[in-house]
Amino acid sequence: MEKYRKNNNVYKSEGLRFYFGEVSMDIRLDAIIKKYKRDKREFTVLGGINTTLPHGKFTVISGDSGVGKSTLLNIVAGLSRPTEGKVYYGEKEITALGDEELSKLRTGFMGVMTQNCELIPYLTLGENLKLACDIGSGEEKHKKDLPDDNDDSAGLFAELLAALGLTHLKNEYPSSLSSGEIKRAAIARTLITRPELVIMDEPTANLDRKNVRAVLDLLKRFSKNGSTVIISSHEQEALREADYNLALEFCAD
Ligand SMILES: Nc1ncnc2c1ncn2[C@@H]1O[C@H](COP(=O)(O)OP(=O)(O)OP(=O)(O)O)[C@@H](O)[C@H]1O
Ligand SMILES: [Mg+2]
Repeated sequence: MEKYRKNNNVYKSEGLRFYFGEVSMDIRLDAIIKKYKRDKREFTVLGGINTTLPHGKFTVISGDSGVGKSTLLNIVAGLSRPTEGKVYYGEKEITALGDEELSKLRTGFMGVMTQNCELIPYLTLGENLKLACDIGSGEEKHKKDLPDDNDDSAGLFAELLAALGLTHLKNEYPSSLSSGEIKRAAIARTLITRPELVIMDEPTANLDRKNVRAVLDLLKRFSKNGSTVIISSHEQEALREADYNLALEFCAD
């Protein structure tokens, strides 16, 4: 763990602006094409997307099931590579980075939640959050957000648990949680490091109205505080809150 931390110091200590320069940290998608193969036949999911996802704003990627929302979010997060096209964070081309550098980048200052948000099964809900803080952009900057051994009520840890209705579940293991509770816990885990770039795949899916509201309020708050927030959602309420909506449509082929 210690070795890993040292390797990541350049990202953690200086943050996005240092790494990417003082220029706009908009995320630019340049002619993104993604093709998959099924039954030996190639088909196009993303047919050349050109757009800018604005820095410090709340972006919602919408569209029908199967249209390519997860595919695009994974490309934006550097979890998968486009067949053609480039992704830029500010001036830096993310699609030109190797896997190791991409992974450091995600650990250093991104919070990424994929659609099948899983917790580590042998850690309690609270321990899952603490571990994220420890290996993520934790260190000094986030120590105030973590409870100490005697006090579990301090900082962002307690705030996130309370906002997402999870406080009474912090000592539970994932196997005893409902799928909605696991989703909310994964959201808390993604936000606990105050990532500068938040990417979440369907954070409001399968939640009740009250929790949809709570999640959207949290995401809006993070973007107001300077984080770039990009999510996928079918939710009308999310679309109403969005500063920017990228509506995907099926490709012709
Ligand atoms: N690894 C893969 N190999 C082949 N096809 C894939 C792969 N991943 C996704 N697809 C296909 O690409 C299309 C887009 O999938 P994607 O998961 O991006 O859709 P989505 O918009 O996120 O859908 P949902 O709203 O149901 O989550 C679908 O037709 C899916 O079956
Ligand atoms: Mg999806």
